[in-house]
Amino acid sequence: MFRNRVQLKSILAAMLIMASFTPALLSAQKASPVAPRRELVESVVREAYDKFKGDMSGKNADYIPYLAQVDSNMFGIAVVTTDNQVLTLGDVKYSFSIQSISKVFTLALAMEELGADKVFEKIGSEPTGRPFNSPLAVVDMPTHTGNPLVNAGAIATTSLISGKNAAEKWNKILDFYSKAAGEKLVLIDEVYKSEAATNTGNKALSYLLAKYDRIYADPFESVDVYTKQCSVGVNATQLARMGATLANNGVNPATGEQVIKRENIPEILSAMTMAGLYDGSGGWAWHVGLPAKSGVGGGIVAIAPGKGAIAVFAPPLDEAGNSVKAQKVIDYVAQRLNYNLYSPSSVGLK
Ligand code: DON
Repeated sequence: MFRNRVQLKSILAAMLIMASFTPALLSAQKASPVAPRRELVESVVREAYDKFKGDMSGKNADYIPYLAQVDSNMFGIAVVTTDNQVLTLGDVKYSFSIQSISKVFTLALAMEELGADKVFEKIGSEPTGRPFNSPLAVVDMPTHTGNPLVNAGAIATTSLISGKNAAEKWNKILDFYSKAAGEKLVLIDEVYKSEAATNTGNKALSYLLAKYDRIYADPFESVDVYTKQCSVGVNATQLARMGATLANNGVNPATGEQVIKRENIPEILSAMTMAGLYDGSGGWAWHVGLPAKSGVGGGIVAIAPGKGAIAVFAPPLDEAGNSVKAQKVIDYVAQRLNYNLYSPSSVGLK
């Protein structure tokens, strides 16, 4: 049957490799009882894409010079479900800087290391009602750090990550993000340089935190690691997979790896609800009802717990620093799929 022993050997080796990969793949793709039907999501995402593609309201971030020259017309949507269905449309291959969306995953890493209670004690989780980079919030708020998703709280959260030096902390952070994305992520060096040359505001925040003993490593070193984490490149699909890992109890639906402890997911999602869109978070909860996180690079990821995540990339932002088109798309898709968490019908109650 086999022409020679070499051929037989290579077939046996291939079977062995398949046997060692198949169980992980199968468990990764185990059907979720609440994951959506592919055809439905496909048609809703297409509708949203067509409806909003011509909407050019908003403006690219320009306080980080690199971001001002990113093509404002780019527009991509990716959905990854908890049973690892992947749906994409538009510019989903372009690698944009993750920016503030990184804060969610550094929070998750800090919780892996210290536990939820310790992170809550060191950072807190109250909305500031002020812009994401506000020094006034640091002065005004009893915790000073506010929450892990505004710049001050995020820099303090980064300062909690353990490591014998900045390089070790940074590598740990990048590795953790990569596991959540299911692919090796890399720094966009030009973004990092552009932001590092202009981040006097974040340096000021770090020193203000030091005044209140609310930063837990060297302030400027922490700002530097934070600036690197914000400069990590992701495309819309990778970002949706990071979101789907949160939606899937911390297990990456593509690799089957438990990246984030299951018990930390509710706190992480609650922080996103509270402050994921900064001073736009209340309106977002009111209209959309899904935990989400934006970044000034133009990305937003929203989580439908147990179901999946949607990531949208479109650079023009509103006044609060949130992508205008991404908000409109997610709002539309969440309504059409009946995903609002605060609606009892989102879990099937008629
Ligand atoms: O620190 C900053 O200002 C940026 N690296 C991140 C801010 C950001 O993404 C706010 N998001 N909507």
